[in-house]
Order: sequence, then C-alpha cells, then structure tokens
Amino acid sequence: MLIIIVPVLISQLLAVYLFYKRHWYNVSQNTSYLIATEISELIRNLNSKKIPKQGNYLNLEYSSVSSKLPDHPQGKYVEELEIFKKLLQEELGQEGVIVLDQGRNVHLYLQIGTQTLLIKLPYKAILNPTTSIFVLWIIFLTILLLSISLIFSKNQIKSIIELTDTAESYGRGEKTDKYKPSGAKEIRQAGLAFLKMRDRIERQTAKRTQMLAMISHDLKTPLTRMKLQVELMNESEEKEELQYDIDSMQHMIDSYLDFARGEGGEDFKPINLNNWISSYIKTKWSENNISLNISPDQVITLIKPHSFQRAIANLVGNAFKHSSKVKISLSSSEDEALIIIEDNGKGIKKDERKSVFKPFYRADKSRSLDNSAGVGLGLAITKEIISGHYGTITLGESKSLKGLLVQIQLPIKK
Ligand SMILES: Nc1ncnc2c1ncn2[C@@H]1O[C@H](COP(=O)(O)OP(=O)(O)O)[C@@H](O)[C@H]1O
Ligand SMILES: [Mg+2]
Repeated sequence: MLIIIVPVLISQLLAVYLFYKRHWYNVSQNTSYLIATEISELIRNLNSKKIPKQGNYLNLEYSSVSSKLPDHPQGKYVEELEIFKKLLQEELGQEGVIVLDQGRNVHLYLQIGTQTLLIKLPYKAILNPTTSIFVLWIIFLTILLLSISLIFSKNQIKSIIELTDTAESYGRGEKTDKYKPSGAKEIRQAGLAFLKMRDRIERQTAKRTQMLAMISHDLKTPLTRMKLQVELMNESEEKEELQYDIDSMQHMIDSYLDFARGEGGEDFKPINLNNWISSYIKTKWSENNISLNISPDQVITLIKPHSFQRAIANLVGNAFKHSSKVKISLSSSEDEALIIIEDNGKGIKKDERKSVFKPFYRADKSRSLDNSAGVGLGLAITKEIISGHYGTITLGESKSLKGLLVQIQLPIKK
C-alpha cells in the first residue's frame, strides 16, 4: 500500500507546488499588468481634466479624497499584491499605498499633484480566481488516483494473502485442495510453483508410505511362520521371551500398516454424534473409570465411521495407557461439535504438544519398546483422520483431571 501511496502523494505535491507556483506567478503578472496599464491610462486621462468627485473607468472605480495619503500599512501580506505594486511602480513611476478592504476590494491611494486619488478595484481582478479550483481538482484527482490504485492493488494483495494462508496451512498438514492461483502473472507463477512443490512432496510421501506398507506386509508372512514355529517349541523361558518379542513386532507392524493405509476411501455418512459416541464408548470400554458427559442436543453430522472410530480409539487408548481415569465430553454450537477427552495422567509438556502429531514421535523416549508402548503413530493417524473430516485437533491441559486434554472440533453439516 505504501509503495503506491507514497509516490503518488509525492508526485502530486511536487506537481502542485511547481505548476501552481509558475502558473500562479504568470497569471498574477499578467492580470497585474493589465490593471496597472488601466490605471496609468486613467491617470493620463485625468491629468487633462480636473478630477471629478466620483467616476468609473473600465474595471476601476475612483474618487478624489481630500485627505493626504494615508500612512496606513498594507492590510495583509499577499504575494499577488507585491507583484502588482512592483508593476504599478514601473508603470507610473510612483508608489501607491495599498489597503485591503476585508480582503474583497483593493484600495489604492495615489498622489496626483496636490490631490489624493482613491481607486477601488475588486481583489479578484488581481487574484487569479482559478487557483482554489485548481487545488480542489488536484486533491480530488489524488483521491481518485489513490482509490483506483488501492482497488487494483487490493486484488493483488488478496492473492498474496491467499497464497500465504495456503502455504501456512499446508505446513500445518491441512488440506489445500481448494487453492487456485490468482492475481498478477508473477503471483500466479508463485502460486503454481507452490502447487508443483506440494505435488512433488505428496508424491514423495506417498512413495515412502507405500514402501512402508510393502515392507510391513512382506514381514507379516515370515513373522506368522515364526509364531507358528515358536508355538511348536517346548515350554521354556526362551520360548516365552521369543513369543513376547514376536508379539511386539506384530503390534509394530500392524501400526505401520495402519498408518500406511491412511484414511482409505471411506464415504461420509450422516450420524447422530451423541448416540454414536456413547454407544461406541460403552461397547468398547466397559470400565467404570470412564465418565461420559454428553449434551442432550442432537448433533447430526457427517463422519466416516470406521476412521472416526479409529481416531477415538487411539485417543481413548492413549488416555488409558497414561492414566487411570478418563472423561469424554461432547457439546455443540451452531456450526461445530466439540469432543473433549481428558485424563488424569501426567499430560504432555507444552513444547511437545505439536511434535507428538508427527509420525514416529514418542514423548516418553525412555520407555523401551514393549507391547504397551506404541510406535508413535497413533496421534499422527488421528490427526490425519480429523483433518479428513475438516476438523481440528488440539492438545491442552485438563483443568478438572490435571492430565492431557484433547479437543476435537468438527464442523456440523446442516
Ligand atoms: N493421554 C496422554 N497422556 C500423556 N502422554 C500422552 C498421551 N497421549 C499420548 N501421549 C504421548 O504422546 C506420544 C505420541 O502418542 P501416539 O502418537 O499415540 O504414539 P504411541 O501411543 O504409539 O506412543 C506418546 O508416546 C506419549 O508419550
Ligand atoms: Mg497411541
């Protein structure tokens, strides 16, 4: 905005100053010259006659006054009058006394012989009356120019802001399908470059995930074979340890596959979120250390039931892994549903609340990889599922239970 406003203002002010000064000076010079010749003409005419008490000549109104020249100082300093005075002196060879009558009339006192002549003329005859109009026009045009350029630049700025927002939300791992490059050629090019980069990153990620899926899948068969072989071994401490390790590996491979599969192509289905959540929690977790706090208003929304189940199961599973008491609340407003899962564990430190959503990130690294320890994919999967529902997931600290608070916001489709 400043790039536009500053040069326009500077050039307009400069133009006004230079042009106005020159133009105004020339016009004043010309008008003053005309009046001065009129006056010298009048005096030449009067010299041959006796000066009448009252008279008119062209623009001038004159009268003779008996008093001497007033030593009245000139009313107020006006540059035009200075020019006029100078020209008058050149023309007549004598200086008059100029008085301004409330700025509207110029009173010019001249000494002619023993008499004093008073000439009245409208100030506008000397002043260039177009100057104020000229300044008004310049102001009007400046405002017009600025408004037009602001309207144009606003569109460009909108495109830049759009690109910035898209890049930022892509960085947060959100969907950016809706973005279309717009604006000037350069901005569109930047937008296209961003889209190309995004596609390359996505292709690469897809390739890696595919590889992870392939490896996990291939490992499954020998692992199952190992499991069978171990079953056939005689009971011993080694057999138990082996079984335990194989179970861990199986668990890890299942998590990898789960992650690599992603959301899948499940379709959205309209459901009543209140009933769905309470019945799902009650059938999956029969423990009585889980409390439900679900508002009675019906929340009808679109979800992909299987993936959504997976997300909720990850979160509740995490909560039970790290704590002993869990509370699940559901409330809704005009256009969004809010699911809150709280526990009484030790929570996640503030500076780790973003990183735990990254794949393979585990907050508690000291714990060895045993059956209960995950591989750090649960929250990554959950986040992807929630984004797939156009929702957001954020972590915080539970006020009532002092552990972790997970908040899911889902848009309600009416
Ligand atoms: N309810 C919770 N309380 C405390 N820490 C948690 C909780 N949920 C998740 N975490 C931490 O966040 C990390 C990432 O969680 P997640 O992605 O589910 O991975 P995983 O459960 O496989 O370790 C976990 O390693 C754990 O340290
Ligand atoms: Mg987990």
